[in-house]
Amino acid sequence: MAQMPAPDGKKRRLLLGATSVVGAVGAAFVATPFLSSMAPSARAKAAGAPVEIDISKLEPGMMVTVEWRGRPVWIIKRTKEMLDALGKASDKMADPESGQPLQPEYAKNATRSIKPEIMVVVGICSHLGCSPSEKMTIGPESGLGDDWPGGFYCPCHGSKFDLAGRVFKGMPAPVNLTVPPHTYLADSRLLIGEDKKGA
Ligand code: FES
Repeated sequence: MAQMPAPDGKKRRLLLGATSVVGAVGAAFVATPFLSSMAPSARAKAAGAPVEIDISKLEPGMMVTVEWRGRPVWIIKRTKEMLDALGKASDKMADPESGQPLQPEYAKNATRSIKPEIMVVVGICSHLGCSPSEKMTIGPESGLGDDWPGGFYCPCHGSKFDLAGRVFKGMPAPVNLTVPPHTYLADSRLLIGEDKKGA
């Protein structure tokens, strides 16, 4: 059973194994006991239907992974400390405002999100498709330097991403992690795979 990262952040871990664990077509949602997917049928999911998630119990500093179109999508509730760290790290990022194409309009900002506290991003490295490791702890405990802002580290070729999925300058990965189309059906009901225009 996947574990819930501690809200206070000392030993945050990926909640879920995402596709590597879930694997099978249609096994779309992997989650904590309290998070539930209201996604459509397995057949519909396999065809790429949007996935609806209740994030009402997602505490600050926590992360969950859901599967959408066979890919892991990370949802993180960022703390104020995490958001502050994003601001301080912007000058180290290759594309801090995420102006590159192929991003939803609502990802073209420093937090790359509709709501600053909620990050939604595809957990696949934009270099050659490895799965980056979670390094959400800010600072030296991460092993990535005193000024590490929290984020993700790709073990394949060393690309680093912050907690907005922004790639650091000089990394093998050429662009930020992908923000999938998504929208909020209500405050705590997130729909992944479709934006307000019905992408
Ligand atoms: S696949 Fe991630 S750095 Fe190469």
